[in-house]
Formats: sequence, C-alpha cells, structure tokens
Amino acid sequence: MAILEASHLVKRFGAVTAVRDLSLTVREGEVVGLLGPNGAGKSTTLHMLLGLITPDAGGIELFGLELARHRTEALSQVNFAASYVDLPGVLRVHEVLDVFARLYALRRPRERVAEVIELFELGAIARRRVLGLSSGQRTRVQLAKALLNAPRLLVLDEPTANLDPDAGDRIRGLLSRLARENGSAMLITSHNMREVERMCDRIHFMADGLVVATGSAEELAGRYEAEDLEEVFLKVARG
Ligand SMILES: Nc1ncnc2c1ncn2[C@@H]1O[C@H](COP(=O)(O)OP(=O)(O)O)[C@@H](O)[C@H]1O
Ligand SMILES: [Mg+2]
Repeated sequence: MAILEASHLVKRFGAVTAVRDLSLTVREGEVVGLLGPNGAGKSTTLHMLLGLITPDAGGIELFGLELARHRTEALSQVNFAASYVDLPGVLRVHEVLDVFARLYALRRPRERVAEVIELFELGAIARRRVLGLSSGQRTRVQLAKALLNAPRLLVLDEPTANLDPDAGDRIRGLLSRLARENGSAMLITSHNMREVERMCDRIHFMADGLVVATGSAEELAGRYEAEDLEEVFLKVARG
C-alpha cells in the first residue's frame, strides 16, 4: 500500500520552476531514495510533502489522507531530519528532546525521550549543550528528535552530509536497523551513491524538477547500461 502518493506537483519560485510535474510514491515500510543533481528540486519536493511549503499545483496524500485538508492528522505520523536544520544550541540534548516530545503532545514524553536517548546512544552527551557537539553527535540528536513520535514515514534530507566515513557508516547502520525493526518507511536524499545502494529499496531519480527514472539500484543500472548507481547518476545528470 502506498503511504505517500504525490501526483503532478508543481512549485515555482518567481521565474524559477523548481518542481515541474513530479509524481512519486512511498509504500509502507519501504526505504526510498530521492536522487538528483544539485538544484534538481529534491529539497523543494520534500518541503511540499512535509507541508512546509504549498505546491502551486498537484496533490499529496499521506496514509490515504489529503494533506491540504487533513494536515494535522497526516503530519502527526511523519517526521523530518536534515543536515541544514539547526537545533537550539543553548539547550542541552535532553532538553531539546523534551521540548519536541511536548510539542508533539506525546502521551508519555519522559519515557519516550529516555527510549530515543538509548536508541541513539546519547546517554553520555544527554546533559551537554547542542552548541558544542560534533556533526556526528548532532546528527544523532536530529534523528532521535525525528523518531520521538514513532513516525510511519521518516523524511531525511541528506542525513549523512557533513559526516566523516565512520560517523556516516554508524548513522546508516542505525537507519537500516530502524527500517527493519520499526518498519518505518523512509524517504531519503543523498549524494552518497554507495549509501543509497545499501539502504534504498527503490529510487526516484530527479532531474530538472521531474522524476526521470524509478527503480531499484540494479534495475536502474540495467536500464542505463551502467556498472553502478554512480554511473547511472552521471548518465542521468549529463542527459
Ligand atoms: N525559497 C526559494 N526561493 C527561490 N528559489 C528557490 C527556493 N528554494 C529553492 N529554489 C530553487 O529551486 C531549485 C531547486 O532547489 P532545491 O529543491 O533546493 O534542489 P535540490 O535539493 O535538489 O538541490 C533551485 O534552482 C533553487 O535555486
Ligand atoms: Mg537539497
């Protein structure tokens, strides 16, 4: 079953058409990659799916609910993390999580905060201020925040950008485990093709505001007569 269905989305910023006719789906429990060169429209697409910006045309259904009409209900089962979103730096890690747990109106906020601290191995830094954390630690806090409401759909915009190979690998391991154990569906953007090959069941390839190809990494490699996803990317990006 599709838990996310976007059809014919369009988004313009003045003279720039960032997304021109975009359709994509994410099914229950599926890890989907959204790939494409810088400026292809990936972040704009994610922001529309999250209700952060309003499409100029097209429709979005989350869990069978039309986003425009059932915003609160639909978004209560979604969460988001991105390399470019800043957490309040003066707060301590446990305070950040506590604030979001309350914003989400969780029934047992304290217990849930303790759970995500455990899950993302944040115990040792729970009392530290966000400001002084390393990129890897901040990413783990971001992901912990994004898991608080146990979302059925987790949207991640370049979650491993800014991370060294070791920290990136740890995050990938955690995300794969989450997908397996919690069955959360994920929609992920990344420029790390090995990461996408390893994590994603299916890929939507974007160029110039459109999805130009959809399939598993192997299917896409076959279709583009490429060795791997990296070569597919180069072929798609260079037209
Ligand atoms: N708020 C905005 N105002 C004006 N132009 C924007 C805005 N957001 C994105 N764009 C433009 O839309 C296009 C797609 O951007 P984006 O969705 O960020 O691409 P990606 O995430 O794939 O790199 C780019 O040309 C970008 O400059
Ligand atoms: Mg982007």
